[in-house]
Amino acid sequence: MLKSKVLNKSAKIAVIGLGYVGLPLAVELANVGFKVFGIDISKDKLTSLKLAKSYVLDVNDEFIRRLINKNLFVSDDYSIISNMDVIIICVPTPLNKTKDPDITYINAAVEKIVKYITKETLIILESTTYPGTTEELIVNVIESERNFKVGKEFFVCFSPERMDPGNKNFNIKNTPKIIGGSTKTCLELGINLYSSFVEKIIPVSSTKVAEMAKLLENIFRSVNIALMNELTHMSDRMGINIWEVIEAAATKPYGFMSFQPGPGIGGHCVPLDPMYLAWKAKTLDFYSRFIELASDINRNMPRYVVNQIASILNKEEKPIKGSNILIMGVSYKKDVDDLRESPAIDIFQLLEDNGANVVYYDSYVSYFHNKNQIVHSQELSKENLQKADLVVIITDHSNVDYQFVIDNSKIIYDTRNMTKKYKGDNVVLLGGFKGGCKDSI
Ligand SMILES: NC(=O)c1ccc[n+]([C@@H]2O[C@H](COP(=O)([O-])OP(=O)(O)OC[C@H]3O[C@@H](n4cnc5c(N)ncnc54)[C@H](O)[C@@H]3O)[C@@H](O)[C@H]2O)c1
Repeated sequence: MLKSKVLNKSAKIAVIGLGYVGLPLAVELANVGFKVFGIDISKDKLTSLKLAKSYVLDVNDEFIRRLINKNLFVSDDYSIISNMDVIIICVPTPLNKTKDPDITYINAAVEKIVKYITKETLIILESTTYPGTTEELIVNVIESERNFKVGKEFFVCFSPERMDPGNKNFNIKNTPKIIGGSTKTCLELGINLYSSFVEKIIPVSSTKVAEMAKLLENIFRSVNIALMNELTHMSDRMGINIWEVIEAAATKPYGFMSFQPGPGIGGHCVPLDPMYLAWKAKTLDFYSRFIELASDINRNMPRYVVNQIASILNKEEKPIKGSNILIMGVSYKKDVDDLRESPAIDIFQLLEDNGANVVYYDSYVSYFHNKNQIVHSQELSKENLQKADLVVIITDHSNVDYQFVIDNSKIIYDTRNMTKKYKGDNVVLLGGFKGGCKDSI
C-alpha cells in the first residue's frame, strides 16, 4: 500500500526543516508531483515561502511560485504528520560549546513525530550525524513509545544529503544518493521514493553504513585540506611557493588528488561533521587522531592568516593597530551567501581585537552581525581600495574584477591564489610567496 503510493506519487510527504537541505528537497519532490508539506519552526522562512521568496541561493523564486499552495504547503504545525505517508528530517546538527554533537534538533523533531505518526509511514533522516543515530534516536524511540514494529508497521532509512551549494554541475538530481534502511523493506521503500527524482541510487547494507559514508566524505576533505594547510606553514619557512608545488604535483595523471590550502574551513559540514564521528569514537574509547589533528590545524588557520597580515604590514612599517584593512569575501566559500563557520568572520574579529579598522566587500553578503553590531558591505570602488593599507582576499567569488582590485590597491594578501591569472607585483599569497605572477616564470 505505502509502496504503491510512493510509486504512483500519491504519497503525502512532510519535510521537516526547510533550510539549505530541506527546501531544495521539498521543492524537487513537489516538482515531480508529490504533495509536500514543509514544516519549519522559523516564522521568517515560512512567511518568505508563502510570498514565493527563496532564501536559498540554489532555489529560485519562480520555482517556488509555481509550486506553493499547489504541490508545496508550508507551516509550523506538526499535527499534519498524522496524515503523512513519508517524513523526511532535515534539521540542523551543529556542535555545542564543547564541540560535541548537538542532537537537540533531531530529538525535538522526533518527539513531535512520535506524537503524531500513524502506521504505514516511512521516515528518512537526511541530517548528517554519527553512526547509530537513526537506530538509537528514531527506530528505538518509536518502537518503545508507540509499540510499532520497524519494517512492518513503520519504516526507517538514513540517506545523507551530499549537496554542494553553488555547484553549477551537480545538483540534487544528478548527485548519486546513498541510502541505508533499518530493514530490507525500509530500504526498498526509500529506493522507490528517491528513484522518482534522483538519477542514481547507492543502496548500502545499513543505516550505520550510510551515516558513516557521509562522515567519511567530509573527513576526507577536512584531512586533505589540513595537510595542505600544514604544508603551507612548512613551505613558508622553506621559502617555497606551495601553490606552485600543488599545481605541479596535480599534473600526475593518477594517484594524486589536488586540494588547496586556505584561510580556514567553514560551512555547516566540513568543520563540524568530523567531530560527530570523533565524539562517537570516544564513547567506545577510541581516539581518532586524524580527525582531531585536521580540525586543530584547520581551526588555527585564521590565526596564521592574521600573523601573516602582521608581517606584511610590518614590512611597510605599519602595525595592525590603526591600519585600514579591507576584507574581500566573507561567506565560507566562493559564490555562496552562507556565513556559517566562515573563517572570514574569525579573521575580521581577530584583526579588530588587534586594533585594525576593518571593513569588507562581498556581493553575496550585504551585512552580517559582528558581536553586537551590524556591519555592511562596502562598495568595491577605487576609493575604498586605495583607502586600505591592505586588501585581504578571503573568499574568491568569481564575480569580482580582480585586475581592478590589483590595479587599485596598495598591497593584496590573497589567501586563495585567486590572483594567479592576473598581473601585478603587489600581491602576497597565503604562505608568504609573491602572487599575481602571470607570465613571470
Ligand atoms: N548546508 C549544506 O550544504 C549541507 C550539505 C549536506 C548536509 N547537510 C546537513 O543537513 C542538515 C540540515 O542542514 P541545513 O544546512 O539545511 O541547515 P539549515 O539551518 O539551513 O536548515 C535547517 C532548518 O531546520 C529548521 N528547524 C530546526 N529545528 C526544527 C524543528 N524542530 N522542526 C522543524 N524545523 C526545524 C530551521 O529553522 C532551519 O530552517 C544538517 O545536518 C547538515 O549537516 C547540510
